[in-house]
Amino acid sequence: MEDDVLILAIESSCDETAAAVVKNGRIVLSNIISSQIALHTLYGGVVPEIASRKHMEQVIQVVDEALKEAKVTLDDITAIAVTYGPGLVGALLVGVAAAKAIAFAAGKPLIGVHHIEGHISANYIENKELEPPFGCLVVSGGHTHLVNVADYGKYEILGKTRDDAAGEAFDKVARAVGLGYPGGPKIDKLAKEGNPDAIEFPRAKVAGSEYDFSFSGLKSSVLNYINKCEMKKEAFDRADLVASFQNAVVDVLVTHAIHACREYNFEKFAIAGGVASNSALRSAMSKACEDNGIKFYHPSPILCTDNAAMIGAAAYYEYKAGVRSSWDLNAVPNLKLGEK
Ligand code: KG4
Ligand code: ZN
Repeated sequence: MEDDVLILAIESSCDETAAAVVKNGRIVLSNIISSQIALHTLYGGVVPEIASRKHMEQVIQVVDEALKEAKVTLDDITAIAVTYGPGLVGALLVGVAAAKAIAFAAGKPLIGVHHIEGHISANYIENKELEPPFGCLVVSGGHTHLVNVADYGKYEILGKTRDDAAGEAFDKVARAVGLGYPGGPKIDKLAKEGNPDAIEFPRAKVAGSEYDFSFSGLKSSVLNYINKCEMKKEAFDRADLVASFQNAVVDVLVTHAIHACREYNFEKFAIAGGVASNSALRSAMSKACEDNGIKFYHPSPILCTDNAAMIGAAAYYEYKAGVRSSWDLNAVPNLKLGEK
């Protein structure tokens, strides 16, 4: 027990206030998530000011609950970790201020964690044997990154989106067809009833950058399709439409991922982020990896969307590498992966 490293982690970068206690990077003792989704649904998306205020109300309760459920006190905790970027600045600041106050008062080290590093590290929790190097596709509401995880804490970004993130495209298309926010899970469900080959939507290639993504053209062609149908007063099958859209997103993601696996000789490939819980993406990636002799990893859905357990997992490896943040740690809304 003496050598165990217990991290209390806090995540508040978007619309989830979350705290977790993680032992030795891979064992989750508690994982508390207070979601604001119901609140933002009213407005069709996340309202930053409301998110910050709600985080303020929730953060201490969520931390208390995480400690209680883990059956530990602050004395047992080795270090306090917190997401400090990227994300909504006001939302991030709440977590950062809380983590600093707790760490300072308890005399514990503070570790600032990159949100995407957290998403990637979610894969360590249920896959105890997974170790770098591996390739990882991070697909969330704010990010679409293809990453070479060369080592713990060592990331090379191979490609990213030039415009909309994959999850953002899901959310915008869902809104256009009247499914509401957040759109990803709703499209995932409705697409199961549709034909993914009903409509041929474009698969964008980014000139000069084989691993980059672009989803705004796809989103526009879905919106154009809907407008044309409405102008001609023609009905369209919503399930077919969202299934075809989802198929186009998944196709591009899988093609890029497998291309990277071949070029970089990845023997292992993982997915992460909210969109990684998409059932079509999971089965297509799983099949493509199997066909190419690559071992495929993915977190459970609850560890794909924003949570603090993933921040605790990432923080463990930062802690082991000697990373400590100072008391002037600040929220960095556009923090780049690999930057300290
Ligand atoms: O990782 P996450 O919770 O937050 C960010 O860091 O952005 O991801 C949220 C995103 C939203 O865009 C949501 O629509 C999408 O993940 N998402 C999904 C699914 N579940 C969540 N997209 C497609 N299929 C899903 N099952
Ligand atoms: Zn996220």
